[in-house]
Amino acid sequence: MRIFIETERLILREIEYTDENDLFEMDADPDVHLYIENNPVKTIDEIQNGIKLLKKQYEENGIARWAVVDKLTNECMGWSGLKYFNLQVNSHKNFYELGYRFKKKHWGKGFATESSIAILDYGFKNLNVESIFAITDPKNLNSKKVLTRLGFDFQETFDYEGDPTDWFELTKTTWESRKPIR
Ligand SMILES: CC(C)(COP(=O)(O)OP(=O)(O)OC[C@H]1O[C@@H](n2cnc3c(N)ncnc32)[C@H](O)[C@@H]1OP(=O)(O)O)[C@@H](O)C(=O)NCCC(=O)NCCS
Repeated sequence: MRIFIETERLILREIEYTDENDLFEMDADPDVHLYIENNPVKTIDEIQNGIKLLKKQYEENGIARWAVVDKLTNECMGWSGLKYFNLQVNSHKNFYELGYRFKKKHWGKGFATESSIAILDYGFKNLNVESIFAITDPKNLNSKKVLTRLGFDFQETFDYEGDPTDWFELTKTTWESRKPIR
């Protein structure tokens, strides 16, 4: 199991099959899925298939969403990370997108922000990119607050497979000059 980063409260590592129960608890919750296709998982098989896909992304792209683990309890509370898109989305291709998802009981504690700060640092230092992007449902205020706190700029609302979707960008220059609240 590869550990990528340690922050004050968190360990960020690759997602493993042993995380399946934690991920099921998170992804079976309708509130967690309200702004992400509104289709919570029903079986552990769906989680296992998701982990299989992530492992393929680790192998092919060297990076994907990472497990966010509580240092004190060792619980996998959710995930944060950069997904590499080689398909075209909103006229962009071959880009990294920041995403995060946590069990509801762990919202409001700053874990999405803390993990994302470490991931963005890793991204800009290791991946040689000028920008990292983020995509969110315009109604997902919690997610938009995290992005704004991190320094992302709203660019536009675009049509993503029939749904209005907000497109955010964080440039390396902005990241280096505008330190977010930590
Ligand atoms: C999106 C999501 C990760 C945001 O979670 P969150 O808990 O609001 O975000 P953070 O973990 O960064 O926590 C920030 C909140 O914790 C508070 N907080 C408490 N302790 C804190 C600490 N030590 N450090 C920082 N913030 C802290 C902040 O004040 C902030 O509260 P506010 O939003 O009322 O201002 C969460 O809502 C989620 O998992 N949603 C379902 C999946 C989803 O929609 N993902 C995004 C798809 S685009």
